[in-house]
This record gives sequence, structure tokens and C-alpha cells, in this order.
Amino acid sequence: MSYQTILVEVADAIMRITINRPKQLNALNGETIAELSTAFKEGESNTEVRTIIVTGTGDKAFVAGADIKEFADFSVAQGRELSKSGHRNLFDLVESLKTPVIAAINGYCLGGGLELAMACHIRVASDNAMMGLPEVSLGVIPGYGGTQRLTQLVGKGKALEMIMTAGMMKAEEAKEWGLVNHVTFQNELMGMAEKIAGRIAKNSPKAIGLAIEAVNAGLEDGVNGFNVEIEKFGEAFGTEDFAIGTQAFLNKEKPSFTGK
Ligand code: CAA
Repeated sequence: MSYQTILVEVADAIMRITINRPKQLNALNGETIAELSTAFKEGESNTEVRTIIVTGTGDKAFVAGADIKEFADFSVAQGRELSKSGHRNLFDLVESLKTPVIAAINGYCLGGGLELAMACHIRVASDNAMMGLPEVSLGVIPGYGGTQRLTQLVGKGKALEMIMTAGMMKAEEAKEWGLVNHVTFQNELMGMAEKIAGRIAKNSPKAIGLAIEAVNAGLEDGVNGFNVEIEKFGEAFGTEDFAIGTQAFLNKEKPSFTGK
């Protein structure tokens, strides 16, 4: 698959996706969202890929938000559709992907960019990263899941402060808030993301997918996460990975999981 606005490479069990619109600080336009959607689906269906890392090109921006030029003259109906299709095609897709996704936040991570990072399963940031949801300064609100996922990650009070002030936060403060897991120097960012990916790759892909489903279920409306956990726990016993993992433990060997 060839892409115009992103770079994709697979090596060492990792799919690296780099959003590549440096002149627009990697802002997400319709084409980028469609390409990201395709790449993430490709990553999930590629059995060689154990982790996906998403980052932005250059050293200035992860993603500076949705592309403001693209929606500047949208109507109410077009605005609603932009948000709805974005949720469906990218942000909900990433969150519920069975393959773990790490956001390597390498600079400005604003609006739709922070919303993309928050849909990922793990976030690591470089020490120059700046995070925020500036949408209300433009007269809109976060429309790619930000009002919900920020609240889940940092709590209602902090989420509302961040949204209502439209302010930017440095990486260290974002870590204190629980918005990112780790902060490191910019030249060590990919190394840190890859190190986490390496630790993930030692484990059962099948079980990891089931765990993602169970964790996400607890945040779904009208779904009892504990019941989903019981189901997914049972499901794990029917997998090849479970047989491999338990046998390896009993034989005092390292497991070599198949992801089945
Ligand atoms: N959309 C489109 N273009 C963008 C962009 C965006 N979100 N962010 C930056 N750019 C473009 C700028 O227009 C500029 O292009 P030109 O050179 O053609 O003028 C180029 O990227 C470089 O940007 P700046 O000159 O502004 O760079 P800077 O260093 O002075 O400032 C910045 C950097 C603080 C990130 C600033 O660019 C900025 O505030 N960007 C917008 C951030 C924003 O409001 N994001 C939220 C978007 S709305 C959204 O995401 C909605 C949603 O939830 C669905």
C-alpha cells in the first residue's frame, strides 16, 4: 500500500507509522485520517506486527490538531459528520485495536493530535512536547473523543480546566496529570517506545488483545466490565497461546507465542 501523508514501515515486530505533513505540523486532514485508518488495520492483520508505534515527522510536532483549513467553512451537518466519521474510522478503531498502539509524542500534540494520542493504549512523550485541547479558542469543542478520553485519563476537574482554558501543558506536567506514561529526551523517544514494544512482544498477542477488550469494556456505556473480563478470561483458555504459555512455564522454558 502506498501512502501520501504517512510513512509506514515494519521491522523487528513493530509497525512504525509516521504522520508526514511537516509543513502543516502534521495536522490531520481527511486524507491523513483515511490513510491512518488503513495502516492501523493493516498493522492489526499483519501477524508479524506485535506493536504499532505512531509518531509525527520532524522534531516540532506530533500532530498540531485537525486541519483547520479543511473545516473552516463547514456547516453544522458537515461538522457533525467530520466528528462522527473521525470517531468511527480512526479514533475508536485505534482504541479497540487488538494490537497495542504506542503514541511517541515528539512535539506539539494539540486538539485532534492529543485525541489521537489518547486513543492509543500507551503514551510516551519527549521533554519538548506540548499538549493541549485548544478547540474552544477556535469556537469549537474537541470532536475526536477528547471530551470523553481526557476525562477518563485525568478526571473531570482537570479535563474541564484543560478544555476551558485551551492552554498548553509541558510533558512533565502531563505526566503528573496521568496524561502520558513516560517522558524522555527527544533523541531517546523512539528508543523508549521500542523498549516498551520489546517487552510487549515477549507476551501472548492473543491474551493482550483480550485484555484490551476487557479494559475498554469497563468504559463502555451499559456494559459490565467485570462480566466481560470473566468471558475473556475463559476465552483465553481456548487459545494456542495459553497452551504454549503454560507449558513453557511448566517446562521452565521461554514461550514462543503464535498469537492464535
Ligand atoms: N491545521 C492546519 N494547519 C496548521 C495547523 C492545524 N491544526 N497547525 C499548524 N498549521 C500550519 C500553520 O497554518 C502554518 O502554515 P503556513 O506556514 O502555511 O502559515 C504551519 O502549520 C506552521 O504553523 P505556525 O506558523 O503557526 O507555527 P508556530 O510555531 O508559530 O505555532 C502552533 C505552532 C502553536 C502549534 C500553532 O501552529 C497552532 O496554534 N496551531 C493550531 C493548533 C490548534 O488549534 N489545534 C486544534 C485544531 S481543531 C481540532 O483539532 C478539532 C477537533 O478536535 C476535531
